Amino acid sequence: MASASFVKLNASSSSSPWTGQRSFNQRSGSSSAVRVSVIRAGSYSEELVKTAKTIASPGRGILAIDESNATCGKRLASIGLDNTEANRQAYRQLLLTTPGLGQYISGSILFEETLFQSTTDGKKMVDCLREQNIVPGIKVDKGLVPLPGSNNESWCQGLDGLASRSAEYYKQGARFAKWRTVVSIPCGPSALAVKEAAWGLARYAAISQDNGLVPIVEPEILLDGDHSIETTLEVAERVWAEVFYYLAENNVMFEGILLKPSMVTPGADHKEKADPETIAKYTLTMLKRRVPPAVPGIMFLSGGQSEMEATLNLHAMNQSPNPWHVSFSYARALQNSVLKAWQGRPENVEVAQKALLARAKANSLAQLGKYSAEGESEDAKKGMFVKGYTY
Ligand code: 13P
Repeated sequence: MASASFVKLNASSSSSPWTGQRSFNQRSGSSSAVRVSVIRAGSYSEELVKTAKTIASPGRGILAIDESNATCGKRLASIGLDNTEANRQAYRQLLLTTPGLGQYISGSILFEETLFQSTTDGKKMVDCLREQNIVPGIKVDKGLVPLPGSNNESWCQGLDGLASRSAEYYKQGARFAKWRTVVSIPCGPSALAVKEAAWGLARYAAISQDNGLVPIVEPEILLDGDHSIETTLEVAERVWAEVFYYLAENNVMFEGILLKPSMVTPGADHKEKADPETIAKYTLTMLKRRVPPAVPGIMFLSGGQSEMEATLNLHAMNQSPNPWHVSFSYARALQNSVLKAWQGRPENVEVAQKALLARAKANSLAQLGKYSAEGESEDAKKGMFVKGYTY
């Protein structure tokens, strides 16, 4: 159970670097020192570090299937299925019961419905994951709404009640969480939108850690726009600087978080495309400038890239050693060919699971820097970018 420790701090005490329990005296104008007390998530710190390391383990990454019911409905509609609970269950069951998945997948982000759901034969979905040594995760944000006072930008809701929801998710078996907020380059981004995104992520991260969940920190910089890769680099540096500033201000333990950045690419409508080597160079430059090596894993989103592009870019980023585990947390770039193979037909489940395993294996090889695109299907090469995409 969650039990935040109330730590009395003074100048002489010291403690573990994992708990980050710091000692300091605060001067309040007079010469006498004022004792400062800070509420810390000490009880979970070792577990958080262990969970993050398990997820960031060599040759493995995250299968993101945390689409809200509305977004899952879009996936199902693409193969002519109705958005019913039974169809969502059948689809997620197919994914989570894929034999051998745990070899390539270390964690899976679920939507609340799936976290509390069972398969058609009555087995909990979380148990299907645990059996394969895959850590169950949960999307905890409540989605995006317009941000008043901004340039038509948005902010992410979900802090109200987050502590109690997180404690429930932990009881149900979740060990990591995800909060996705977005930053739009064509809209500015405004200083207000960046600050709001960074602050929200930091509050969420602190609350997650306090309840035993490793927070995935995801300020998605949208692909929308005709800007150059240099502009994306500049914006990404600005956003991550602010995110880490507030993470530190909220006493978040960096060893117990994971990041989910967008790759640094030109905007989707830019006149020139960048090759994987260029994307890797810009993305790693940005990360090395902004992300401390205490962070165990960088788990990229695919953001509308084709399955093959996402894999090639990841492969390019793993051609030399990095200070962190550099891997994937793809939704669209892992699910596209599965949906096409499945078509909602029970007789296609096996071939659809093989399609998932093939993509998971390709990305596992890319994580190890050993992927070859030879023999990839035409479908894997098709981009999935949709303007103004929502989750
Ligand atoms: P993709 O961009 O890979 O579709 O996923 C983003 C995401 O946040 C899913 O958890």
